[in-house]
Amino acid sequence: MMKHTIILIIFATLWTCHDAIDTLKPGDTLNSTSSLVSALGKFTLKFITKPVGNSEMSFLAILRIKTEANKAWIANPHSPVLPSSSPILTLDFNNTLKITHQNGQPFILSAPNTTSSTSVVATLLDSGNFVLQEVSPVNGSTIRILWQSFDYPMDTFLPGMKLGVDHINEHVWSLLSWGSRDNPVSSGPFSLDWDTNAHQLKIKKSGVIYWTSGVFADGRFEYILPDVSKQRYNFSIVSNQNEDYLTYTSLDDPNDPEPEWVLYTRGALYEYGAQVDIIRAQNCDGYNTVGGCVRRDRPSDCVGKLGDDFEIKKGYFKIINSANASRPANWIGTGTEDCKVTCWQNCDCLGFDFPFGNQTTGAGCRFWSVDCAFIEDLSTATYSFVVPNSVTLPPKSPDSPPRGKINATDKGLWIGTSIAALLVIGFCICILCYRLRGTKFMLSAENDHGNIIRHPDLSIFTYESVLAATSNFSEANKLGQGGFGPVYKGKLATGR
Ligand SMILES: *[C@@H]1O[C@H](CO)[C@@H](O)[C@H](O)[C@H]1NC(C)=O
Ligand SMILES: *[C@@H]1O[C@H](CO)[C@@H](O)[C@H](O)[C@H]1NC(C)=O
Ligand SMILES: *[C@@H]1O[C@H](CO)[C@@H](O)[C@H](O)[C@H]1NC(C)=O
Ligand SMILES: *[C@@H]1O[C@H](CO)[C@@H](O)[C@H](O)[C@H]1NC(C)=O
Ligand SMILES: *[C@@H]1O[C@H](CO)[C@@H](O)[C@H](O)[C@H]1NC(C)=O
Ligand SMILES: *[C@@H]1O[C@H](CO)[C@@H](O)[C@H](O)[C@H]1NC(C)=O
Ligand SMILES: *[C@@H]1O[C@H](CO)[C@@H](O)[C@H](O)[C@H]1NC(C)=O
Repeated sequence: MMKHTIILIIFATLWTCHDAIDTLKPGDTLNSTSSLVSALGKFTLKFITKPVGNSEMSFLAILRIKTEANKAWIANPHSPVLPSSSPILTLDFNNTLKITHQNGQPFILSAPNTTSSTSVVATLLDSGNFVLQEVSPVNGSTIRILWQSFDYPMDTFLPGMKLGVDHINEHVWSLLSWGSRDNPVSSGPFSLDWDTNAHQLKIKKSGVIYWTSGVFADGRFEYILPDVSKQRYNFSIVSNQNEDYLTYTSLDDPNDPEPEWVLYTRGALYEYGAQVDIIRAQNCDGYNTVGGCVRRDRPSDCVGKLGDDFEIKKGYFKIINSANASRPANWIGTGTEDCKVTCWQNCDCLGFDFPFGNQTTGAGCRFWSVDCAFIEDLSTATYSFVVPNSVTLPPKSPDSPPRGKINATDKGLWIGTSIAALLVIGFCICILCYRLRGTKFMLSAENDHGNIIRHPDLSIFTYESVLAATSNFSEANKLGQGGFGPVYKGKLATGR
């Protein structure tokens, strides 16, 4: 008896594993422990939980079936429900597709106006599209589509989705970034749209065009990463009286994961399959035209008054001719780019800095105005963004760095690289200081301009002396291993 029960349980488990369903029929439900899986097992539809503020909330999501999958689509991004309220996805006998829960009104995905005699099912397809369709009662083939998740894209553009306009119902297909990387509840400022007249992709921030794809020629867009683009995407542009859209399919390389574009919070378009930014609209900062960025002119009354570009300098701003000793840091957006745009649009702005030193995490940038001067000082650890031709007092030290104006073509790269380099260097210093307790190191890093960033109060050690101090990096001297590689303790000839 026992044996039979066990065999039965095992059999039942195997049976449920291998009989994952992809379709809801009228009357079927999906609860927090069940899921739909597309026919070839590429996508799944299920309830997931994510932290929103201080509580976990439930969202109905479509995910690609692989580790660390992107959330390709979320049914209720702005209406999450408490997991304790037992959310259930239902296709009811009136063909309404909805999320019901114990805490209030159901969230309706689709309430089609069809007679109840028709046969309607909701199916998760291998494209990642969740489709409510009227099917033939005889052979199950599609008669018409009543609703589909591909018509309501979020931040993700999958092969087969459309960006553009449906002229029959004026429905617009476009991507919208999330408010923050992990939280879909609020929308972010960036959108990706298909310009049906110019036949170009456009990234807008709060409605202002930041980036354009350039023209489509030879199978690719001018400003979408060429190597990735040619290798992975087969674009189609469709234009007729019913609709105007761009779509794409995967160029079939079986070794390649499927393409999947995700519009990130700060404006990058990340390709989940290729693991690379194919568009970097986060570098578009007002005066930059690199990689499809749209340049915005300064207000006309600035013309001739100030330079045409920012310089990145070591030093600090100082208030002159004013009783105001300090001013509050004024944070106005999500990144360095916002500070540049704001300063660029104001003729009184001489530049800005980051009083809290963490420009990438967004603690705040501080603007400096016409009653200030910039004082170059190599010994300061921080950089400032300075509008040239503004009052710059002579440097204190005679060995000032060349006041290199940053070339527009590699400026974005330069800024990105130097911020990243500073962060890495800072982090390394922290780790070294922590690990080596007071031992001094000389660090130097070369940026794109060949300037050496030196920390004069650090000491230099030869490789030989480090070898000797650690007994040729012996196992006995190894303290541990972290993200930067193994860490050793050592004793110098001086005894330290
Ligand atoms: C979800 O539904 C399945 C059957 O469809 C059932 O076995 C399971 O207990 C349900 N889970 C919850 C948490 O209600
Ligand atoms: C279906 O629609 C009818 C009439 O509109 C309504 O009375 C009924 O409650 C609905 N059934 C469900 C399950 O919502
Ligand atoms: C269904 O839609 C048709 C038009 O498409 C309309 O004439 C009809 O009144 C609708 N029926 C219901 C029950 O809403
Ligand atoms: C399925 O049945 C419908 C009628 O219900 C018919 O029009 C259609 O051609 C059939 N399709 C196939 C593939 O047999
Ligand atoms: C691109 O897609 C079209 C259909 O949209 C197809 O006819 C064509 O063969 C595809 N090209 C490649 C290189 O796969
Ligand atoms: C100090 O700054 C504030 C705001 O920037 C300004 O309104 C005020 O006039 C300034 N005071 C002096 C004495 O410059
Ligand atoms: C960023 O600045 C804030 C405010 O000074 C500080 O509390 C925080 O630790 C800083 N974060 C990093 C990563 O430096």
